[in-house]
Amino acid sequence: MLDIEKLKENAGVKAANLIENEMLVGLGTGSTATYMIEHLAKRIQSENLKIKAVSTSWSTSLLCHQLQIPLLEINATSSLDIVIDGADEIDPQKNLIKGRGAAHMLEKVVASMAKHYVIIADDAKKVNVLGENFAVPIEVLPSALSIVERKLTELRAKVKIRMGAPGKDGPIISDSGNLIVDAKFDSILDPQELNLQLNSIAGVLEHGLFVGMVDQVILASPNGLIEF
Ligand code: A5P
Repeated sequence: MLDIEKLKENAGVKAANLIENEMLVGLGTGSTATYMIEHLAKRIQSENLKIKAVSTSWSTSLLCHQLQIPLLEINATSSLDIVIDGADEIDPQKNLIKGRGAAHMLEKVVASMAKHYVIIADDAKKVNVLGENFAVPIEVLPSALSIVERKLTELRAKVKIRMGAPGKDGPIISDSGNLIVDAKFDSILDPQELNLQLNSIAGVLEHGLFVGMVDQVILASPNGLIEF
């Protein structure tokens, strides 16, 4: 049986092979996206592929610097030929929960610029209903923390400020300098409705529900790749 890292790599390689010469590419964040970025770097060297990329996080930018993948500022463009990223949960309608790595705010900005938005994952990420396994990460303006926590509780979420190692690190701070609150909902039967509700809370800068954005999902299973 293939281990989970091999599955992530299979999905990443398949997606990296979708990238064509001269494309503007959005590069996601996380362990699955890392496999995709590593394969893209190999293709740039071996095929002399000319691409330019925008990154969704500091960690992806550092990886791109190490692998000599040319980066543009996100603001240098408003459109990307393809964006490839991982996810924490994927439902049958291709809605997502993202943000386990606290990068969902820039990930959503970059995804919104995509002509073709591709999600890669191992098949354990597929769920029938969002919220089965993961909380929805919420990037919160620090001075709005109390009111955002209250509004989320009114939506019947269990809320937790995301923390680093207990007694050592303090709260996790996003790349944009904000707090992350994890909001666990029992099951998210209407992602569209919750998307609107979260968008309407003042002080929520972005949340990890991605609704109606994805064009293609590539899931790696022990029996091969599944696409939908
Ligand atoms: C980063 O904040 C996330 O949205 C990741 O894209 C997501 O957590 C998937 O990461 P893995 O591929 O490491 O599971």
